[in-house]
Amino acid sequence: MILKIVKYPEPVLEQPGEPVTEFNGELRKFVADMFETMYASQGIGLAAQQVGVAKRVTVIDLSLGKDPAEKLVLINPEIILSEGRQYEEEGCLSFPEIREKVVRAAKVRVRAQDENGKWFEMDGEELLARAFQHEIDHLDGVLFIFRMSALKRSLNLRKIRKMQSEGIW
Ligand code: NI
Repeated sequence: MILKIVKYPEPVLEQPGEPVTEFNGELRKFVADMFETMYASQGIGLAAQQVGVAKRVTVIDLSLGKDPAEKLVLINPEIILSEGRQYEEEGCLSFPEIREKVVRAAKVRVRAQDENGKWFEMDGEELLARAFQHEIDHLDGVLFIFRMSALKRSLNLRKIRKMQSEGIW
């Protein structure tokens, strides 16, 4: 089932997610719906807040659904190591049309649970490292506009207000 993706400034986007404690059929259905929703919007990452649910659940797939081996489910994830620096352009399904360079660590290691509750660790570099950091930020209620410089943020907020006034946001 394709879920509705909420856009900024929907308050749930800035709400930190509750940890998941029950790994049941309902959770697995939610994860499957999140993948379906993300693929329908051509995204590479989606956090639960973006479909209106403040829980620590995110899905990532850099292959856009082409390679099942690239499907990642991260539940209750945390970054346990980060190193280096990268400065690349990011987008976000809750900010259509907005793309901006954001500073991130170049490499990170995440610790997370899968949809059965099993803990695992995984390293990511470059785009995958950015996806991990962007999505885990979402779970903390942190949006990528708050990772931009103050100038870029105000320019983008102005752009959003203009789109809102034109009824295209
Ligand atoms: Ni996002």
